[in-house]
Amino acid sequence: MEKRQELYKGKAKTVYATDDPAYLIMHYRDDVSAFDGVKLAKLDKKGETNNKINAYVMAKLSAAGVATHFVRLLNERESLVKAMKMIPVECVVRNVCAGSMAKRYGIAEGTRLPEPIFEFFLKSDALHDPLVNDDHIRVLGWASVDEIAQMKTLTHRVNAVLKPLFADAGIDLVDYKLEFGHPVADPDGPLVLGDEFTPDGCRLWDAKTGEKLDKDRFRRDLGSVIEHYREVGSRIGAPL
Ligand code: TMP
Ligand code: ASP
Repeated sequence: MEKRQELYKGKAKTVYATDDPAYLIMHYRDDVSAFDGVKLAKLDKKGETNNKINAYVMAKLSAAGVATHFVRLLNERESLVKAMKMIPVECVVRNVCAGSMAKRYGIAEGTRLPEPIFEFFLKSDALHDPLVNDDHIRVLGWASVDEIAQMKTLTHRVNAVLKPLFADAGIDLVDYKLEFGHPVADPDGPLVLGDEFTPDGCRLWDAKTGEKLDKDRFRRDLGSVIEHYREVGSRIGAPL
């Protein structure tokens, strides 16, 4: 697979074309951002750490029957993925109340939820990723009724795989964000998980101490961000 031109530079990853239009290369940079790109920094080893954690988690999801865009690790910072047409919404499942949900409803962070709560957000930094509902998504044409149903089912299925995976490592999976799309090679087929699953896009708390092991360490200036990401990786068994 030959690496070709840069196609898109996101806040933490850069996407490159390959010699096959059905495949892309995702390059994980050391950049970290928060609050919709307002707070920015570079953290040594972040790119390789997230690339490897993502590869491990995506492989687990794929083995459990969740289709993902991930194909294989190429090197320390890069992975080969299927080229996708992404749906412009973010899918969040919460097992514990934290972050924007705690703020929005005035509920204490750490409040356990009797069952997981699913939320959709519009993917737009300029609009600060507003919460949206099924009707917004359907009527405004961001996804069909069937795709909405698939996003919910798949995001909950990821919970069924990852909650026990993290629990076995002594980690509570508090919440996480997923993004879905259609592979360009199969535009009419079922939705496939895209983007990434890393400590950048979820909340992970040590089950015993409650210590934060995710990007809240950066958002809240708690320090030792990548040391904690690597701790997550080694606890779940990801080769780093
Ligand atoms: P929130 O509490 O800020 O709504 O975020 C819920 C979870 O989703 C949290 O683990 C962070 C993740 N997330 C992102 O990674 N990117 C985003 O743009 C949003 C809205 C959430
Ligand atoms: N992912 C978004 C950003 O980097 C939101 C966040 O993580 O706080 O700006």
